[in-house]
Amino acid sequence: MAQHYELEDKDFGKLAKKMKEIAIQEMKHAEALAERILFLKAVPTTKPDSEIQKGQDIEAMLATNIKLESYAVKMYNEAALVCANEKDQISKQLFEKLLGEEEDHLNFFENTEDHVEKLGSAFIVTLAD
Ligand SMILES: [Fe+2]
Ligand SMILES: [Fe+2]
Repeated sequence: MAQHYELEDKDFGKLAKKMKEIAIQEMKHAEALAERILFLKAVPTTKPDSEIQKGQDIEAMLATNIKLESYAVKMYNEAALVCANEKDQISKQLFEKLLGEEEDHLNFFENTEDHVEKLGSAFIVTLAD
């Protein structure tokens, strides 16, 4: 979310729009997980698990996001296996659904990083629509 409005402020409108879409999907992930946790009679945390990075350039944002999305993919894959072992099919399906979206996010950030590395400022200019 912070990346979306920072990019918007710097007139990188095209990348900002994509970041906003991803941020909204991530909020929906948090809500879906909180609902499931409450249903299972536990208490969802409201504390973020890391500091929000501010003022990063596009390359640093992409590196941060690739790290976080890779972590999410690994964690949700493992969580789906735990749910299968515990015979909780609904939680397993939830993790699998989130996993699919995290893979899409990771793919987008990796492809964008690749274009930035190969094409440099010529590509970065195209993110400013
Ligand atoms: Fe997520
Ligand atoms: Fe994600």
